[in-house]
Amino acid sequence: MESVEKVIDEKIQGKALVTENKAENTKKLFIESYGCQMNMNDSEIVAAILDKEGYNTTQILEEADLVLVNTCSIREKAETTVRNRLKKYNAVKKVNKTMKVGVLGCMAERLKAKFLEEEKIVDLVVGPDAYKDLPNLLEEVNEGRDAVNVILSKEETYGDIAPVRLNSNGVSAFVSITRGCDNMCTFCVVPFTRGRERSRDPKSILEEIGQMVDKNYKEITLLGQNVDSYLWFGGGLKKDFKKASEMAQATAIDFAQLLDMCATKYPKTRFRFSTSNPQDMSLDVIHTMAKHKNICKYIHLPIQSGSNSVLKAMNRQHTREEYLDLVENIYKIIPEMNLSQDMIAGFCGETEKDHQDTLDLMEKVKYSFGFMFAYSERPGTLAAKKMKDDVSLATKKRRLKEIIALQQKHSLYRAKQHVGQVQEVLIEGTSKKNDNEWKGRNTQNTVVVFPKEHYKLGEFVNVKINDCTTTTLKGVAVGYSDNN
Ligand code: SAH
Ligand code: F3S
Repeated sequence: MESVEKVIDEKIQGKALVTENKAENTKKLFIESYGCQMNMNDSEIVAAILDKEGYNTTQILEEADLVLVNTCSIREKAETTVRNRLKKYNAVKKVNKTMKVGVLGCMAERLKAKFLEEEKIVDLVVGPDAYKDLPNLLEEVNEGRDAVNVILSKEETYGDIAPVRLNSNGVSAFVSITRGCDNMCTFCVVPFTRGRERSRDPKSILEEIGQMVDKNYKEITLLGQNVDSYLWFGGGLKKDFKKASEMAQATAIDFAQLLDMCATKYPKTRFRFSTSNPQDMSLDVIHTMAKHKNICKYIHLPIQSGSNSVLKAMNRQHTREEYLDLVENIYKIIPEMNLSQDMIAGFCGETEKDHQDTLDLMEKVKYSFGFMFAYSERPGTLAAKKMKDDVSLATKKRRLKEIIALQQKHSLYRAKQHVGQVQEVLIEGTSKKNDNEWKGRNTQNTVVVFPKEHYKLGEFVNVKINDCTTTTLKGVAVGYSDNN
């Protein structure tokens, strides 16, 4: 049985990201990405910018002219992982002396120029909104100066850059639709590292999807810290919406409309999205999902805690009751919907009763999957400034273990619901455990494995589900689905 902890660990593993080489490019870029899918997508944008500067990607650290690490600050552990990677780069640089090292992403934004003092190996520090400045910054570095740009932007959505797909299976891709977050959850560093929320022009989103469809991609995941808050009114920060002209306000496009546009224009493409914040999720989105077969029946709907007092301390903008109401409405409109969660165990002031409320809420929702964490204090957040990290590490770990155990029970419960059904699966690659089996996902985002037979990568296949584990469904293909 694959453990949930293992899946979480994989989420923060870095990987050398590569794409096809171009003969005219003479320099070598080693880039790896930690943290969320948004970082992964940003690395693809960075690779596109550097492709124009003559860089091919490489998997071999030792031969790189430039090493970039796209970093995550969400928990202390994520930052420690990156610091350890820098030690490895340092060892390589002793041999490859001309190699330059740059830090991108959330740690770059959080630590700014301090990075250069703390980690002597680093030549370049670039925040998430400053990647277009990379060519200039590299010029400075090549002239022997350290270079830093961590300016956060009101406008930048990288809408005009076609990402170079890295480590792609050629079947599924991410397209970012919003950047930043305005929610200010008291535990979270993201609003500080990724700035204020802004949405991307739907025209450029649809164009990018069109390019992916032309290249035979079959599944697109729309990305943002808070996709349901998407609002296009001509550009700029979401918080300035009220200052926009009446015309701009009246013709604004929200997330439900954007989803509808995507699913209508590309009916053979599967759409997913992540992440949804409960207070911003409108039932219009659920009705749009119900209307289109090609929008997957799965929502990642983090709550963080099942206790009202903890939700309040976290500055989550809804109560437990409002969340459960939303979930009930979702299941009413789309009974086959699967939901997943993020939970934090041991936030400041969390009592045993609060923890029990979390377990109780999980029993009510029965999520199909979850990402669960022990609370980790982040410098600069309101919780770090104003609240006491007063739950002992042992208690955090014990509560986390209980949450994970319950989630595994629910994952198995949800997985078993699929057994006996015939489900459409998009083939995404070879199963990790068996070369003779394909791996894909059903609409609910559950992994399905089945014998390859004559089926091919990127095809939609109907699979009869015969068996399951906590995380994987097992079946046999019974023919092509009508989506091919
Ligand atoms: N809206 C974002 C959330 C990013 S953070 C998204 O697109 O997914 C991802 C998850 O990390 C959060 O939902 C939360 O469960 C967890 N997290 C954030 N800050 C944390 C902290 N200080 N300690 C532990 N977990 C944290
Ligand atoms: Fe973080 Fe809350 Fe935004 S978890 S990313 S501040 S919705």
